[in-house]
Amino acid sequence: MGVHLAITGSIATDHLMTFPGKFVDSLVPDQLDKISLSFLVDDLDVRRGGCGANIAFALAQLGHRALLVGAVGRDFETEYRGWLDAAGVDTSGILVSESRHTARFVCTTDTEMAQIATFYAGAMSESRDIDLTALGTDFDLVLIGPDDPDGMLRHTRACRENGIPFAADPSQQLAWAEGDVIRDLIDGATYLFSNDYEAALIQQKTGWSADDVRAHVGTQIVTRGKDGVTILPADGGAPIEVGANEGIVAVDPTGVGDSFRAGFLAGVAAGLDHERSAQIGCTIAASVVETKGTQEYVLDRENFLKRLGAAYGEAARADVDAALTLA
Ligand SMILES: Nc1ncnc2c1ncn2[C@@H]1O[C@H](COP(=O)(O)OP(=O)(O)OP(=O)(O)O)[C@@H](O)[C@H]1O
Ligand SMILES: [Mg+2]
Repeated sequence: MGVHLAITGSIATDHLMTFPGKFVDSLVPDQLDKISLSFLVDDLDVRRGGCGANIAFALAQLGHRALLVGAVGRDFETEYRGWLDAAGVDTSGILVSESRHTARFVCTTDTEMAQIATFYAGAMSESRDIDLTALGTDFDLVLIGPDDPDGMLRHTRACRENGIPFAADPSQQLAWAEGDVIRDLIDGATYLFSNDYEAALIQQKTGWSADDVRAHVGTQIVTRGKDGVTILPADGGAPIEVGANEGIVAVDPTGVGDSFRAGFLAGVAAGLDHERSAQIGCTIAASVVETKGTQEYVLDRENFLKRLGAAYGEAARADVDAALTLA
């Protein structure tokens, strides 16, 4: 593989439970200061996730072996590492914490879709202890995804100081970050990824106009859910619009943005242009949105290419067929 990608970001598991009742029936409004509740649930789904892991997994599905960089707990060794290794992810860049568990999202949903959730960052906070340059300086591109904030800043600066091209993908971490942190995370990025809501949030928090943002980054990619994606080229040229796959039954949107990024980067790494790369992104995203979980879909070459051809035409199918080595 000529092109060397590193994906930095969260590695986590989701523990999802469903409560066959209504939370509100258990709440006693004038006793909330003594709250102590336990819900008997009848379903537990444990899913592998985390943005960094989702992106690296999706790249592997598309035939690209990327280096995953993040921090986990020792529990990662029992099952998750083997899963990623078997999928074709390079897990040699992962830091294993001595004392903390892998990040975990625990969420219980009731019959009304009300949710009570907890996120434990755990070992993820140790990603700030990772020296990216110790893992290599020959990366063609490093994606800096949602992670421990200090880790994200450290990796971004390491790229900038060493002249390593990077893709800024702060997504959900935009919610807490102040404007100066966001400016630091995106300034000089070769690619900036976000959805349309986050693109507006970036402007609001940095105080930069849309043009200012474009002036600080190379290519800006804005995803719009079922309305597809807009690519703003680095040369200031006209936006490129790519539609999403149509007629997709959305079952679980979790991880859809991650898979889009992987598809786009797999295309870029294979030498395809931005339009083709986005078409790959939208097509793998369709498989993720119609599957429960973020690493539970299966891509087979024939169906993937058929789907891409149906959405974007025969020329697109042929280009991707020639460029990608997906199994
Ligand atoms: N309902 C859908 N049908 C078809 N494609 C979809 C649908 N939703 C999302 N996609 C594809 O996934 C891409 C990314 O979706 P979206 O903009 O919702 O990301 P996101 O908001 O970052 O999602 P998340 O953070 O939940 O992963 C879209 O550009 C589109 O190609
Ligand atoms: Mg997202």
